[in-house]
Amino acid sequence: MRVCVVGSGGREHALAHALGRTAEVVATPGNPGIAPGEHGLALSSTSAPPEEVDADLYVIGPEGPLVDGLADRLRALGRRVFGPGADGAHLEGSKAWMKHVLDEVGVPTARHGVFTEVEAAVHFLRTLPGPYVVKTDGLAAGKGVLVAQELEEAVDDVRAKLSGTSFGEAGRRVVIEEGLSGPELSVLAVCDGRRAVALAPAQDFKRAGDGDQGPNTGGVGAYSPVPAAPPEVVEQVMDRAVEPTLAALAGRGIDYRGVLYAGLMLTAEGPKVLEFNVRFGDPETQVVLPRTVGDLAGLLAEAADGRLRSEPAFCSDAAATVVCCARNYPIAPYGTGEPISGLDEAASVPGVVVFHAGTAVDGHGRLVTAGGRVLDVTALAPSLGEARARAYDAVGRLRWPGIQYRKDIAEAASAREVA
Ligand code: AMP
Ligand code: GLY
Repeated sequence: MRVCVVGSGGREHALAHALGRTAEVVATPGNPGIAPGEHGLALSSTSAPPEEVDADLYVIGPEGPLVDGLADRLRALGRRVFGPGADGAHLEGSKAWMKHVLDEVGVPTARHGVFTEVEAAVHFLRTLPGPYVVKTDGLAAGKGVLVAQELEEAVDDVRAKLSGTSFGEAGRRVVIEEGLSGPELSVLAVCDGRRAVALAPAQDFKRAGDGDQGPNTGGVGAYSPVPAAPPEVVEQVMDRAVEPTLAALAGRGIDYRGVLYAGLMLTAEGPKVLEFNVRFGDPETQVVLPRTVGDLAGLLAEAADGRLRSEPAFCSDAAATVVCCARNYPIAPYGTGEPISGLDEAASVPGVVVFHAGTAVDGHGRLVTAGGRVLDVTALAPSLGEARARAYDAVGRLRWPGIQYRKDIAEAASAREVA
């Protein structure tokens, strides 16, 4: 089978790596890591648009093209696509609509309201005990969420978002929520329109700094499995959140074939949905897929055909990913164009794969930084603690001016594992 992966980040590199076990993969636009000979797999990148790539299956990585209807356009050309159409992708394209769907089918989520006027928004904020959560309705690359302890900070953020100054059109409508607390969990489910099967659970790290300090990012680390989420918790998430949502979409005539990604908080009252995404998580994919065994291309093709029969299987090894970022990330402009060294030394650590997230080859043929998240270092090992140690061993071998990364990825979970 020949699979076309759409996208250029670490998630797409991890997809290419996992699909490449049983298929030939061409990524568009791909990245320097998705190249012939890499990992001993048949991988390549092309600048041709997806419509012009000849493939048996198209797997769309990022939310932007999904929301823009790329899956619909490819299907109209008779192609087999893993990824929802614009109708299903609206679940991520509008947090207000997502909340509406969740409410309709009673999926547990935080108490919330949707606002376009400052006065009504502030009035609602005053009814909450705090912490306060303010989200842009539209897409904001994972950065449109403020979690504030102080009412004043939340009010300032509401004003900035609604006026269009902080996030443009995406912020002209906001969702305000009560702040929840508990460990976070990401469950990625492969859906064929009616049926959904869960991949291995993961936890990602959204704050830029150690100890969950600093601004929200697109995600700067992940690990799997999650000691706080044994199989019965994942089952509960499928029964109470993913399946009812898929059924609600089907009830609206939406044939949802792709990943439904539930971002949850494990609260004292049980798992509650923070968000639904309509694609693989980044960097969750970088820990979930290396743990998946068997024919991933076949599984996604079945889902794309609306006939999911296989069950995904996972190895017992644990995986940890540390995202190595450019100077300043997540505050643009990032330090781009910096030459990267130590990649081969990092990749030589046993169990380690380095996924490219934001790299480019410059005019001198050197690999340089080209984005906020630059390289994702994933390690597999029999325990989380060992996976974490291997990942950091590899990270320590990478060099570029301004390199920064969190030092505490999977730390608490590996302590729990040995306790
Ligand atoms: P979202 O994009 O909606 O998943 O939000 C991004 C991040 O903000 C989440 O991963 C959480 O860390 C945090 N967050 C979102 N909603 C809430 C909430 N209701 N309570 C506490 N934290 C939240
Ligand atoms: N890791 C968060 C996301 O993919 O949205």
